[in-house]
Amino acid sequence: MTLTVTPIDGCIGARVTGLNLHEALSDATFAELHAAWMQHKVLVLPDQNISDDEHVAFATRFGELEIHHQKIIKDETNPAIFKVSNVDENNQVRPPSSDVMTQLLLTKIWHTDSSFREVPCMGSILRGLEVVDEGGQTCFTNMAAVLEGLPADLLAKIEGKRCRHDFAHLNRIGSKYVPTAEEKLAMPPIWQPMIRVHPVTGQKSLYISPIYNDAIEGMDDAEAKEVLDQLYEICSEPRFVYEHTWTQYDILMWDNRSTMHRILPYDPAARRVSHRTTIVGDGPVMAA
Ligand code: OGA
Ligand code: MN
Repeated sequence: MTLTVTPIDGCIGARVTGLNLHEALSDATFAELHAAWMQHKVLVLPDQNISDDEHVAFATRFGELEIHHQKIIKDETNPAIFKVSNVDENNQVRPPSSDVMTQLLLTKIWHTDSSFREVPCMGSILRGLEVVDEGGQTCFTNMAAVLEGLPADLLAKIEGKRCRHDFAHLNRIGSKYVPTAEEKLAMPPIWQPMIRVHPVTGQKSLYISPIYNDAIEGMDDAEAKEVLDQLYEICSEPRFVYEHTWTQYDILMWDNRSTMHRILPYDPAARRVSHRTTIVGDGPVMAA
């Protein structure tokens, strides 16, 4: 396989062609792909109509796979597959008011995956099986570039600070899904550094995940909210963002250590089905 890596205009993302994910990657191809991923943070792999098993095999090249702690979202036969889907087990579109959708639709807010874990994931690999005609784009923001672009006064407020990441915050901001006692116990709130060092590139980046963040060390609730809101606005500036319009069988892979993502609105009656694998990180978040 000969990879072609074409950077996307702007500060984040590249398209990779020349890959055939029905086949195992050679060590050399894998190394090339991994290097491109670390450099560009988000990779788009078009035209990869692979099975769940092939998806899992590909993702496993990068490391152990995370199993989501909630039952509702996992595939029953293949628990490493996280179903980012508005279609239920009877093949019907779930109404936006359903418990599962009130949670899944919170991905319209910037976040990075599994930041609520002691060891958050390193990356996610999402495969578009059914895509919508309008809207439903996935946006990515480059958190290393955001950190460099922060105004000095805002940077001074967060340097050396940690913020809290609580999976249960989803319920406070609109999720109606009621976790089981076991799910609640599995994910107590934790504190993560707000500026992290990337274990592979050494690059520093801002590390927040607004769907889970409910506090900043040393700040009262009002101040923490104000700081998080200011950071959120900066993360949304178009100069830091790539907006991906899906084509069926696209695969997107993103580095959760140096990016955030969110989804744009789409017609709730339209089917949107994606499958995700999530790669476990190599250790706790390293503070800058
Ligand atoms: C995710 C997610 C975005 C999307 O899979 O982690 O946030 O476009 N999904 O569905
Ligand atoms: Mn996500």
